[in-house]
Amino acid sequence: MGRLSYRTFLASQWDPVPLVKHDLSGKTILVVGANTGLGLEAAKLFASMGPKHLVLACRSLKKGEAAAAEIKTQTGLDGVAVRIVDLAVFSSVIAFAEAFEKEFDQLDIYVYNAATATHLYEQTVDGWESSLQINVLSCLLLSVLLLPASLKAASPSAQARVVVVASEAHFLHTITEDELTKPQLLELFNNSAYCTPNSLTPDKTMKHRYPLTKLLDVFITRELASRLSADSPLVVNTVNPGFCKTELNRIFRFPASVGVKLFEFLFARTAEMGSRVLVWGALGGRNRERDLHGAYISDAAVHEPSDFVLSDEGMQMQKRVWDESVAILSAVSPRFKELAAVHLKN
Ligand SMILES: NC(=O)c1ccc[n+]([C@@H]2O[C@H](COP(=O)([O-])OP(=O)(O)OC[C@H]3O[C@@H](n4cnc5c(N)ncnc54)[C@H](OP(=O)(O)O)[C@@H]3O)[C@@H](O)[C@H]2O)c1
Repeated sequence: MGRLSYRTFLASQWDPVPLVKHDLSGKTILVVGANTGLGLEAAKLFASMGPKHLVLACRSLKKGEAAAAEIKTQTGLDGVAVRIVDLAVFSSVIAFAEAFEKEFDQLDIYVYNAATATHLYEQTVDGWESSLQINVLSCLLLSVLLLPASLKAASPSAQARVVVVASEAHFLHTITEDELTKPQLLELFNNSAYCTPNSLTPDKTMKHRYPLTKLLDVFITRELASRLSADSPLVVNTVNPGFCKTELNRIFRFPASVGVKLFEFLFARTAEMGSRVLVWGALGGRNRERDLHGAYISDAAVHEPSDFVLSDEGMQMQKRVWDESVAILSAVSPRFKELAAVHLKN
């Protein structure tokens, strides 16, 4: 069953992740959130395999250009492009997708890696709690807007993959029976009164926000995979890079930060080691693509997601989160609505 034990977690942290390598000549690769951490390291690994285009989607031009320069120097790849997207703004995601489709013919490998981990309730310009929008809603929006380019690259003889970076943090979150009775789950998770019930007490809801968003990532990716036509050669999966030393842990303040630093020192993978799981999700398991479709990948192998994901309640929640997300994003983007109707089963 899909359970997370401390023993297996800690043991896997020290195991090296195999690096899968393939010739990527002629291919277009997009890494979203590529200026630092796992995204940057995965981009370097892809660059070392010689793709035609490696697109770094970043919110800061300065940071994106610094990352592109580092990748060019370390790998010698010329075809590195930086394109700007702010995932906290739906109109930016829509503009990015439109420009990408015009500029690049097809999308062979798409890695949605960007995420934020926050304990603070902050709303975006679109009215969503920021990590719900960045980690989940923008992930589905962009993945569907780029589906035509991904589907164009996919054929029985050619690889095309959509990889969503999730986390074993999704094991840490379930939903209560009371929450399941609420008519709109995403609206509930977005509600400021629900998220910050009492400013004088520790804010438990936002403390659990990151694992919740990663659970939602597992749900939307499983559902996206299952709604593509059964004979579609496009492979869609989620990956868990393991606990890695990156900028993600900057949310922890003293004294918690001391414990996190110690835990990092003892157990964290380097960002390069963790990024190999992203690369494995994009290139590994050749000739058994169907096993990878809709799968949760950890340590370079398919693993079961959490017991909650596989439970009846989890499956119910997955469908509800999907339906609600599609309704929300259809209102945000007519193109999303059209593409979902054309390419995804009801
Ligand atoms: N590190 C871990 O232990 C760990 C474990 C499991 C899963 N993961 C997952 O791995 C992925 C990468 O995380 P990481 O550890 O490499 O984190 P990181 O070092 O904090 O990098 C996150 C990336 O996302 C980008 N990003 C955040 N908000 C954005 C926005 N609004 N628009 C555009 N880009 C945005 C960041 O850009 P800026 O630099 O501009 O902020 C950065 O490039 C995430 O999905 C995370 O959930 C990480």
